[in-house]
Amino acid sequence: MNAAVTLPADATPSAPALVLRPWCVEDVAALVEVCQDSALRHWTSTPVENHADGTRWVQAQQRGWAAGDRFGFALIETQPDTGHEQLAGNVVLKEVASGKPSAEVGYWTAAHARGRGVAPRALEVLTSWAFDTFGADGLERLELLHQEDNLASCRVAQKSGYEFARVLPAAPPSFPLDGHLHIRHTDS
Ligand SMILES: CC(C)(COP(=O)(O)OP(=O)(O)OC[C@H]1O[C@@H](n2cnc3c(N)ncnc32)[C@H](O)[C@@H]1OP(=O)(O)O)[C@@H](O)C(=O)NCCC(=O)NCCS
Repeated sequence: MNAAVTLPADATPSAPALVLRPWCVEDVAALVEVCQDSALRHWTSTPVENHADGTRWVQAQQRGWAAGDRFGFALIETQPDTGHEQLAGNVVLKEVASGKPSAEVGYWTAAHARGRGVAPRALEVLTSWAFDTFGADGLERLELLHQEDNLASCRVAQKSGYEFARVLPAAPPSFPLDGHLHIRHTDS
């Protein structure tokens, strides 16, 4: 897979345009800064406390692109007045394999970017890219998992056309509470 892929998401009345592009080592400082947020610490599985953690995290995304099984995108917002670029979040397509009908999506947004529809807009772009890129190789559906008390994530799933499929039983320690499985099919 070409790790130079960049995907645009148009501006909205309340949020500037977004670009989705693969993570790079130049993102580490901004990544470490946004990962100090308590919601990210609570809801994401890999803590990024310092530069070494951030470097390892970015390198893991790069290995995913090289292996062709995990595609993580940094979300970059460009302020229209100043041209200033800011890290707004992450979306990822994971568990991809040739001939496999399903893969999984994930996301988070920086605290400063929340409540402006960044995650649903980025997820829509990722979803279209995933089906366009891997549909011919058998990808038919994308799965989205969240813990049942993550109401903001459930809203992102609903707003992005990922239909609720079923409750997933808790699986401690990774998933201490029940979760939701949402699914979007290629033709929906
Ligand atoms: C879940 C998350 C990705 C949503 O991203 P977002 O870009 O804020 O998405 P939206 O703007 O569409 O908001 C989604 C919901 O978040 C809530 N929300 C709105 N403003 C918010 C704010 N300032 N701060 C936190 N949550 C807010 C609302 O419930 C909103 O739903 P609504 O549109 O029906 O009001 C983001 O809150 C986040 O990164 N959370 C921590 C990591 C996480 O939970 N990742 C998902 C793991 S499954």
